[in-house]
Amino acid sequence: MNICCIGAGYVGGPTMAMIAYKCPDIQVTVVDLNQKRIDAWNSDHLPVYEPGLDEVVKAARGRNLHFSTEVNAAIKAADMIFIAVNTPTKTFGTGAGRAANVEFVEKCARQIAEASSGHKIVVEKSTLPVRTAEAVKRILENSNNGSTFDVLSNPEFLAEGTAVQDLLNPDRVLIGGESKAAIGKLVDVYAHWVPRERILTTNLWSSELSKLTANAFLAQRVSSINAISALCEATGADVDEVAKAIGTDSRIGPKFLKSSVGFGGSCFQKDILNLVYLCEHFGLREVAEYWEQVIRMNDYQKRRFCERMVRTMFNTVSNKQIAIWGFAFKKDTNDTRESAAIYVCRDLLNERAKLKIYDPQVSEEQVRRDLIEVFSYATGTITDQERALIADHVSVVSSAEEAARGSHAIAVMTEWDAFKKLNYESILQSMYRPAFVFDGRNLLNHKHLTSLGFEVHAIGKTT
Ligand code: NAD
Ligand code: UGA
Repeated sequence: MNICCIGAGYVGGPTMAMIAYKCPDIQVTVVDLNQKRIDAWNSDHLPVYEPGLDEVVKAARGRNLHFSTEVNAAIKAADMIFIAVNTPTKTFGTGAGRAANVEFVEKCARQIAEASSGHKIVVEKSTLPVRTAEAVKRILENSNNGSTFDVLSNPEFLAEGTAVQDLLNPDRVLIGGESKAAIGKLVDVYAHWVPRERILTTNLWSSELSKLTANAFLAQRVSSINAISALCEATGADVDEVAKAIGTDSRIGPKFLKSSVGFGGSCFQKDILNLVYLCEHFGLREVAEYWEQVIRMNDYQKRRFCERMVRTMFNTVSNKQIAIWGFAFKKDTNDTRESAAIYVCRDLLNERAKLKIYDPQVSEEQVRRDLIEVFSYATGTITDQERALIADHVSVVSSAEEAARGSHAIAVMTEWDAFKKLNYESILQSMYRPAFVFDGRNLLNHKHLTSLGFEVHAIGKTT
């Protein structure tokens, strides 16, 4: 069998690398329009940072795993074509700010229709609005070169930072479709390493909707515990203790109850907005409003973090230096998309704070790009003053200690394990007093830091 995957991003790259690694009898080619990305996949510096990914890629690359920009050739040679392109929130026209932009998926479908010959199985790997498969099918059916197609939905559930483990040992693999034969072929691919009882098959629309629902439920748990964190701060309860107490109820379970500065990542917000848009489209206003509240709570959580910092630091952070520890949206990834750190930094810059930012995996170029983008978000442009603010008030440094040196406060934005093991005595010596720590992840040992002389403010805890 020959597989092609269009889209060499955070999903296409790792998932195809795992298929190639586990299925030496299958040739896998991952294609992308982005030459730089493909070059990186073919180099020693993969474009995606994921623990364990280098080993998987190295074992299969050149054997049965290939990265290329020759999209048409890969489509022609393939029996099965995965579409794993980005489906961001639409920024223009009808549904702007809510609906998923499926433009790239449609382009792929058209290209597949044009470049194919014979029979192909087309697999939606991207997260898509319910019934997108219908549009994909119609485009493919109109191909005028005699080729025939089956369309399957096979959403991806990996989380960044644990992608390799999630792919090696998935809770389930979900395959939606109409043709038993096509479903069987895709089941056979996963059955190389996934127990068959964990491969679920459904109809197309259930599969598409299950993906959006899974992300909505996960994000809802984070927003729920974050809502409680605000109440903890007001009442003296401790959010970690509350999470433990409720998480031991087997009906609730302990996972995804870690209160934080707010969830980020490329998907939770985009997928919930997409769900909200779908509900509105089908006239389900109450359902739309219910899910929208998950996003509103997340915005509140990010906003109130900066407000608390300013309030605590005597109502002004103007020209005070603040160390920002972590910029990625979670640990063990270099991905910053929708990271809470971006919004907190924007709000702090609006207060004229000076930021010294450190993240072990995020480049300075990426930090500056994200900040420029977030300032441009409301109006589509960035003013000269805002540009100057980013240039003058932001520096990106190469260690956590360097960020803290000469700072009034440390703000922990990402839960990198390395932050737990630093020499806090010497860090304290290098800071202004009072030396504030705002722990946006409840990561650090607060008792220890307080005993050293830091003033610690944590999510869902009173000082
Ligand atoms: P990404 O932006 O990292 O990668 C998408 C890639 O597709 C880009 O490299 C882009 O150049 C390429 N592309 C776009 N149009 C193309 C075309 N016509 N031809 C060839 N290449 C094209 O996105 P991602 O994070 O990998 O997400 C992809 C999809 O998977 C999204 O729908 C997302 O919702 C879903 N998803 C993502 C994750 C995640 O952890 N990132 C997890 C599960 C599902
Ligand atoms: C999430 C889902 O977990 C995946 O199943 C899904 O495939 C993926 O989205 C997707 O569709 O893109 P991901 O966003 O990579 O994965 O990472 P998560 O571990 O879900 O974390 C998302 C955000 O929530 C992060 O900012 C994280 O810090 C935050 N979070 C998570 C919390 O604040 N508290 C928690 O208890 C868990």
